[in-house]
Amino acid sequence: MDYQAVLEEVAAYARPLVRRGRVADYIPALERVSADRFGIAVADIHGAVHGVGDWEVPFSVQSISKAFSLALVMAQSPGSQGEDGIWKRVGREPSGTPFNSLVQLEAENGIPRNPFINAGALVVTDRLQTLTGDASTSMLDFLREESGNPDLAFDPAVAESEAGHGDRNAALAHFMASFGNLENPVPSVIEHYFWQCAIEMSCRDLAVAGGFLARHGLRADGSRLLEAREAKRINAVMLTCGTYDAAGEFAYRVGLPAKSGVGGGIIAVIPGRCTLCVWSPGLDARGNSVAGAAALDHFTTLTGWSVF
Ligand code: DON
Repeated sequence: MDYQAVLEEVAAYARPLVRRGRVADYIPALERVSADRFGIAVADIHGAVHGVGDWEVPFSVQSISKAFSLALVMAQSPGSQGEDGIWKRVGREPSGTPFNSLVQLEAENGIPRNPFINAGALVVTDRLQTLTGDASTSMLDFLREESGNPDLAFDPAVAESEAGHGDRNAALAHFMASFGNLENPVPSVIEHYFWQCAIEMSCRDLAVAGGFLARHGLRADGSRLLEAREAKRINAVMLTCGTYDAAGEFAYRVGLPAKSGVGGGIIAVIPGRCTLCVWSPGLDARGNSVAGAAALDHFTTLTGWSVF
């Protein structure tokens, strides 16, 4: 496969769509990014990396961090402990509601539908906080190592901006705490969640760091992060829940496990082959990158690669 040629063609197809979306503005620090950006990278399972456009420009990972926090919790709690432990506290069904919705929590005893909506990610972050003592720094350390980029960093302006506009996430966390579904104090859980969202990475960094999802749980150095069945399960939840309340439409169009963020990034996994990351900040009404989704759609059309 001539990845570079495919990526050039994908970029030519998707770039004209960059202005169709709207840059997220509900967190003021995110709206400063230009809507014209577009980058895409692919990292194959052997470590070769290709990219086009703004593929080396760092952006705010936002909810893409949710895939890594779930992986780290599973990795830190091996065997049945990891599986039973976290899955008693968070489900694995699509929510069909916006990522920051509160409505299902009351009827469902404070157990969020899945780890990729905000409520679910707060529970996973809470668990990671218990396991590591520092849920945001442990994630940054892991991402630096796995991406091979020691310069990865938090963007403090984004983290502070999130905290300044974090009433909804605080409400979700307090509500779950009232059901006994948090182990740590609410302020510490939401703080670590905001800092995880505020990590800055490029398409290159994310495609490389997400390689273990394509390598059935093996890290870049060949050591094992996750059992193969754990990596399969994360991919399955990404397919069904990774793009918010558009996961059905995304599976229909793209047919790959994926996780999006309101910074405009999306990672997607082709198990046994490669991990992709695309970035374009213009979002659709559900919070997914318009040009990014179109690019992944076109990539699977050109290559014929999907999980189906
Ligand atoms: O919780 C928030 O509002 C953001 N920091 C993360 C948003 C995001 O990318 C979509 N969330 N699932």
